[in-house]
Amino acid sequence: MSIAEKFATMEYGPAPEDPKEAVAWLERHGRRFELFIGGTWRAPVAGGYFDTVDPSNGEKLAAIAQGNAADVDAAVRAARAASPKWRALTPHIRARYLYALARLVQKHSRLLAVLETMDNGKPIRESRDIDIPLVARHFYYHAGWAQLLEQEFPEYEPCGVVGQIIPWNFPLLMLAWKIAPALATGNTVVLKPAEFTPLTALVFAELCQEAELPAGVVNIVTGDGSTGEALVRHADVDKIAFTGSTEVGRAIRSATAASHKRLSLELGGKSPFIVFEDADLDSTVEGLVDGIWFNQGQVCCAGSRLLMQESIAETLMSKIRDRMSSLRMGPPLDKAIDIGAIVARVQLDRIERMVAQGVADGASCWQPQHVLPERGFYYPPTLLSNVHPTSIVAQQEIFGPVLAAMTFRTPKEAVELANNTVYGLASCVWSESINVALHVAAQIKAGVVWVNCTNMFDAACGFGGYRESGYGREGGREGLLEYMEPAWFKHAPALPAAIASTPTQVPGPTDDRPETSTPAIDRTVKLYIGGKQTRPDSGYSMEVRSPEGHLLGEAPLGNRKDIRNAVEAARKAESWVKATAHNRAQVLYYCAENLAQRGSEIIHRLAAAVGEKQAATEVELGIERIFSYAAWADKFDGAVHNPPFRNIAIAMNEAIGTVGVICPTDTPLLGFLSLVLPLISVGNTVIAVPSEKYPLIAADLYQLFDTSDLPGGAVNIVTGYASQLLKTLAEHDDIDAIWCYGDDATVAAAKAMSIGNLKQVWTNEGRIIDWFDPKVAEGRWYLEHATQVKNIWVPYGE
Ligand code: NAI
Repeated sequence: MSIAEKFATMEYGPAPEDPKEAVAWLERHGRRFELFIGGTWRAPVAGGYFDTVDPSNGEKLAAIAQGNAADVDAAVRAARAASPKWRALTPHIRARYLYALARLVQKHSRLLAVLETMDNGKPIRESRDIDIPLVARHFYYHAGWAQLLEQEFPEYEPCGVVGQIIPWNFPLLMLAWKIAPALATGNTVVLKPAEFTPLTALVFAELCQEAELPAGVVNIVTGDGSTGEALVRHADVDKIAFTGSTEVGRAIRSATAASHKRLSLELGGKSPFIVFEDADLDSTVEGLVDGIWFNQGQVCCAGSRLLMQESIAETLMSKIRDRMSSLRMGPPLDKAIDIGAIVARVQLDRIERMVAQGVADGASCWQPQHVLPERGFYYPPTLLSNVHPTSIVAQQEIFGPVLAAMTFRTPKEAVELANNTVYGLASCVWSESINVALHVAAQIKAGVVWVNCTNMFDAACGFGGYRESGYGREGGREGLLEYMEPAWFKHAPALPAAIASTPTQVPGPTDDRPETSTPAIDRTVKLYIGGKQTRPDSGYSMEVRSPEGHLLGEAPLGNRKDIRNAVEAARKAESWVKATAHNRAQVLYYCAENLAQRGSEIIHRLAAAVGEKQAATEVELGIERIFSYAAWADKFDGAVHNPPFRNIAIAMNEAIGTVGVICPTDTPLLGFLSLVLPLISVGNTVIAVPSEKYPLIAADLYQLFDTSDLPGGAVNIVTGYASQLLKTLAEHDDIDAIWCYGDDATVAAAKAMSIGNLKQVWTNEGRIIDWFDPKVAEGRWYLEHATQVKNIWVPYGE
């Protein structure tokens, strides 16, 4: 067809990007790549290679080294050896390296974009205009953090050697999200790219050489899941950062439980795309194109569940179908292509299987009349309607260009449907009413909410999920904290292993009280659930003895049922969750006032367990600690980011939800307050297991809460054996996080048992925290763990 004829029909002609530079690069390497370890290229120890394939035509691009445990070990050693010098560099010098990498990414942007498209199948329009510019932006942004690090994070240290495992959907961008913050904060890195898409990581290794990055600071070990597993299990890795499937995320949580490796997980999603009747429907449809057909829908935050207000459903569906018909599908190197190839045969099979299952579940399937290319792995844009909210296609990640549509009537119903998922990565809200949009945004349980926009990303705005979408953030200030720890925490001494407590069950109170000066039991301690003192379900109590062995009293032995009741009560404590920060501060100040008033009697009782001096200090510092968190309650604010688009991103510090807390044993009052207060000051609800040594403190605590207007259910106290109660808490699917203070074995158990709903686990890593030292026992470090950042993107400005 001639150009003149094209003008007449306005049909697209082919506009292929020339791959010659990328092909020349592959040829220069003989289409065979080794491992990048310690600044040089090494053949894999076992000598194995696998093929990486162009999914747009099924042709082999190159042979890639299959790293095994020995290769991973060599890379970790190289990273360890490079660590002292790298972290000792001045922030400015590290900033210059990151800056150099950013410049090099820009300099080689075309090669990177073309290779990315060849290896992954994504349209060149996307790799050229989105992936690679964002990669450069990440290195620039983090060069800035490297420069400011000591000013902004004094007394923080890098984790050390970081193992990073990335997926195939945004190969170089995920590398940048991982490597830039790790290097900026002084870590050295071993990165394993996904087996389907290793090529741009290998170019990046060359850029590290070109930037003269010291050998061993970045190591790239290619391979499959077994390579990733070897990295996860390596004893000398200090942190694992993973992006990929929830299933593998769970396996990694389990594999790292018994170690002190820090862990951040960016997992799957099933993000809602909510459209209200007052939305600008034409913009909405364009948003949807980016939401679900961007990168063939192989996006963890894809808006894969369309929730439409009933009144506009038909109109919107018809507009969507029209737009789908004009999406152009085909060879991804064509610059006018909207939908490229699916990454691999296995992924295509998975999409086909899931759509077939959705149809079997009752969904209607609509696809435009596209002629699929004869070779390669392609799947047409797909619209599923009549989808039941429980259907597999409404619940599970498809990771393909498939949209599942449902309707709702009211904003309340929209929120319920949106949150009816185990995930919580992202969401979109479309409405011309700012009230509706922000009201709904506040209620959605997800790490990102895009208002009247979709799939906006920036290095300054943290990205990461709620619930089974993982934990930790990438980007922004919060993303940096994933790669550092306060020096005092890192070097704190280990807590001696606790002597396993032997449950001594006492049926009812006994009269075995010694004739000593220790105070007599003047009341029966109970559990505290939903603001009420309750008897334990078991009907059993545990003896509480002084260090000298005198019986001080009995505390109820809480069990699974008590925890269940406590979780229910915590979930119902809406008035605390919705209280304003000012109200929370007022309640906390009132607690401090009441503790001061009742201080001497509490000291008197507590002295029997910890001695007069410690008891007095615990009360005195306890009052101070409450004041401190009352002060923080209305000051731990979020931020407003100014990404380089016509948007602002409002970063809200949101409560995590309901948190189970295992309190320190040796500081019954101060330890309890130090962990519970940061959580409730930001609006979490808590089920706390107080000191096993002196659970009688529960009575003093609940009287304090009762008299200070803390709403019932905000704090629930279940006494008993910490190890047994920890198991119930960790396995409970309606608890969002566990905070556990204990020895090595206890914290390992907390992590291992929490994999069910992938709840966030924060522990002392078996180290001693000096609760008497306010410099380490309170403040931002605790509040940062008590909250998760939700970024709400709102169009703003010209
Ligand atoms: P995957 O989770 O198996 O792979 C991600 C990365 O983890 C790859 O580098 C892989 O080699 C590595 N890996 C695999 N098993 C491992 C193990 N036991 N220990 C350590 N590393 C391991 O994801 P896969 O199989 O490529 O895709 C399956 C599904 O996962 C997709 O259909 C999609 O639903 C989801 N997925 C989600 C992503 C996200 O960004 N949230 C990214 C990629 C996949």
